Amino acid sequence: MIRPFRLADDLEEAYRVFISGFYHVYWPLFNEAAPSLGKDFLRICALIGSRSFSAEADGRVVGILLGAAQPKWKYVRAGIAEAIFRFGPKAIFNRYQMSPFARKHLRRLFYGYRPHFFKHPFHFPWAEIILFAVHEDFRHRGLGQKLMDAFLDIVSHKAIPQATVCTDTKMSWKFYPAYGFTRVREFPLTAYKYTHPGEEVSGYIYAIETQADSSRKKGEKT
Ligand SMILES: CC(C)(COP(=O)(O)OP(=O)(O)OC[C@H]1O[C@@H](n2cnc3c(N)ncnc32)[C@H](O)[C@@H]1OP(=O)(O)O)[C@@H](O)C(=O)NCCC(=O)NCCS
Repeated sequence: MIRPFRLADDLEEAYRVFISGFYHVYWPLFNEAAPSLGKDFLRICALIGSRSFSAEADGRVVGILLGAAQPKWKYVRAGIAEAIFRFGPKAIFNRYQMSPFARKHLRRLFYGYRPHFFKHPFHFPWAEIILFAVHEDFRHRGLGQKLMDAFLDIVSHKAIPQATVCTDTKMSWKFYPAYGFTRVREFPLTAYKYTHPGEEVSGYIYAIETQADSSRKKGEKT
């Protein structure tokens, strides 16, 4: 079942989905910091997103898509306030009990992800997939596609012509061309210097035209 994401109810299970999808690139933050770090990060994404969905199976949340579709200013403001007044100070004063390595990794992510922002082709009205994951035990059953359908239906309904997503070669980026997205940017990514030392990683930005609804899904398979 796909339904709107409920921050208050879904956070705990969404955190497990987040770990399952991102452990290989974020493990120092999961292993060497308090869980509140990841949960606060999800809270910021969900606040800014405000067009987010959960996939439920066996009575629990097993997939999440946190997305933004021309979000109201009050939601963006709430997310930014959460980042500046809660997340930032807690990280600086180490309320998340990060080890020195986890802190180093967090800083590297912060700097390493900058190209995603600077190279991003922003179009207004704006729609973005901020965080997308399905628990590994539930992948390849069509849940990712259903979550994406639900988000893009909202985007189309709001007459936003394009939706974008940032990904990279360490993530399941092939989902996007398989679904019908087109790669619009490619650049070297240094965010995973500590989790994948010495490896060359490329950052990608994918876009999909939402008006062409009927041509979505299962475009090129790579
Ligand atoms: C991307 C993700 C959410 C897809 O979830 P899912 O529920 O497995 O997706 P679906 O079952 O709807 O997949 C639909 C199709 O997309 C393609 N696809 C999905 N994941 C893929 C992958 N890792 N590699 C290649 N193709 C993939 C396939 O064509 C798939 O059809 P198939 O299973 O019949 O081959 C999931 O792989 C995931 O959580 N990955 C880890 C986190 C991540 O990388 N998130 C996105 C990038 S930031």
